[in-house]
Amino acid sequence: MRRPLIAGNWKMNLGHADALRLSAALRSVAAPLPDRDVAVFPPFTSLAAVAADLRDARMSVGAQNIWHEDDGAFTGEISANLARAAGATMVILGHSERRHILGESDALVGQKVRAALKHRLVPVLCVGELLAERDGNRTLEVVERQLREGLRGVSREDMQRVVVAYEPVWAIGTGRTATPAQAQEVHAALRACLKSIYDASTAAGTRILYGGSVKPSNVDQLLSEPDVDGALVGGASLDAADFARIVNFKRNPA
Ligand code: PGA
Repeated sequence: MRRPLIAGNWKMNLGHADALRLSAALRSVAAPLPDRDVAVFPPFTSLAAVAADLRDARMSVGAQNIWHEDDGAFTGEISANLARAAGATMVILGHSERRHILGESDALVGQKVRAALKHRLVPVLCVGELLAERDGNRTLEVVERQLREGLRGVSREDMQRVVVAYEPVWAIGTGRTATPAQAQEVHAALRACLKSIYDASTAAGTRILYGGSVKPSNVDQLLSEPDVDGALVGGASLDAADFARIVNFKRNPA
């Protein structure tokens, strides 16, 4: 019922030539797999070129962030309109690196989600707890607050286009993955929260990705959990062979 989505977040990596090399290597990855969606999120400097390169590749291209105003004096920022004009159809919002390094608040993330929807970008709303929050048994409280604030003012109709990503901060770029059971527990709680905000069918239709050290060696087990609908992949998305293997995940491997 929910089409899996594998998303590659290139973060602040790859010069223009390397970005185009990676996109060329990925061009044929998604075509033989019509049962799943694939997206990549290059740095802004390569967004338009990668989007043009992948136009016929059955792969979406997204931005890693936007600013929520439409235009104006916001030096260094990129609006949803500008990202869209460059070829983005999706945008990652509320990534933990933006929350915790750049200081983005729950409220700002919510403004950005609404701006993305207004300009027809699919938002990938990221939520996730810090290690201290997990150790303090506050995981569900934190991710549910981030989810509710991120979706404030988002209608049930617009919610059909939103993707949620659970990324425990302690698992991002650390090589330490949440166990499939840990991921499933949080994904199920997020889905229950969506049901309480919207309704059962909206909750059942929303894709919830897992992110945090997803690799070829763990993707099959993670994606075998009933509420894990895909992966948001950082480090391993920079390697064409690793990302291709992740895109080719198999559920319930023997
Ligand atoms: P990682 O990053 O796969 O390198 O842990 C995931 C992310 O931050 O989206």
